[in-house]
Amino acid sequence: MNLFNVYPLQNITMERAAGAWVWDSQGRQYLDMYGGHAVISIGHTQPHYVQRITAQLDKIGFYSNSVHLPIQQELATALGRVSGKPDYQLFLCNSGAEANENALKLASFHTGRKKIIAFYRGFHGRTSLVVAATDNPKIIAPVNETDHIIFLPFNNENAVRECFKAQGEQIAAVIVEGIQGVGGIHVASDVFLQSIRACCDAYGSVFVADSVQCGYGRSGRFFAHDWTGAPADIYTMAKGMGNGFPVAGVCIAPHLPAVMGMLGTTFGGNPLACAAALAVLEVIEDQQLMANAAVMGDYLIHALQNIPEVTAVRGRGLMIGFEMVPEHSNIRQRLLHEAGIFTGEAKNNVVRLLPSLALSQTEADYFLHHFKQLL
Ligand SMILES: Cc1ncc(COP(=O)(O)O)c(C=O)c1O
Repeated sequence: MNLFNVYPLQNITMERAAGAWVWDSQGRQYLDMYGGHAVISIGHTQPHYVQRITAQLDKIGFYSNSVHLPIQQELATALGRVSGKPDYQLFLCNSGAEANENALKLASFHTGRKKIIAFYRGFHGRTSLVVAATDNPKIIAPVNETDHIIFLPFNNENAVRECFKAQGEQIAAVIVEGIQGVGGIHVASDVFLQSIRACCDAYGSVFVADSVQCGYGRSGRFFAHDWTGAPADIYTMAKGMGNGFPVAGVCIAPHLPAVMGMLGTTFGGNPLACAAALAVLEVIEDQQLMANAAVMGDYLIHALQNIPEVTAVRGRGLMIGFEMVPEHSNIRQRLLHEAGIFTGEAKNNVVRLLPSLALSQTEADYFLHHFKQLL
């Protein structure tokens, strides 16, 4: 059997990793400023993480959600504390798409409505309803097409207000990233998120904060949306949650009650996934990684703003996007092949930096030094 060939690959075979560094099969070392696509939150093969997953595997790796699994409540309690949402409820699943799918389903169950507001340039995943809510016609199969989604311009609070005025009674949910990732690192403005909150309150709709990429401390706060002080009804999370172990979650406000059988999953919340997610939270707390993300993010953003060949810098914490003058449009490939530095890409040739939240000053300087040398 061959692999179903859907990914354009770099010709690199990854063999091992530690902290912010990875090594290929030729023994070449790379600085990982991409975090395996915003997934590596506490650093590759972080010792406490490895130990906690290994110890859990020695005890019990899996049992289904038909019995008590106390580690799930342990995770919910820790997540409530670290995220500042102790009164929210946690539903565990396996991927970002699944978290968003469940969030929208829950909003529809709760309101009895069908319409969802989503935004241009947004990305919410590749499954049925969330791919329809993703502004990329190329990944929407005919079977996913639906007229339940209303696309509005991002950061345009008037468009949100007008839409609610016209059809607010039909809106089940608004889904929005706190910082658009795939769309090119665009930070949602305070007034935009506050107006979403106000409209959802006025019309009884559900505010879904897609925190799959921008959440779990990456922006310097647990949820990027919370920089505005306008809390969401539901936060979805995935990428950084398990530092590479597939685990995702839906944080649900107390006014959205659970009904037996409403949501469900086979693998979601399995003990190994919970051990991975707990290890991540413990390291985030112990090493104050949210504060580190804020400080290192400010440092990188400021340094990039002072490089003449960089034409735009956006982001918050360690979720940064920048654009280059046209002569350096191939900078990502050069960073990788000439300097051994992984970065990410986004729409319109934006370079994305999504390193581990434990990135050190030395590693940030290593990146800046080698980047400047290529210019
Ligand atoms: C903001 C956002 N939401 C949802 C997803 C989908 O997550 P997953 O690939 O785990 O399904 C992604 C993935 O990149 C994302 O960036």
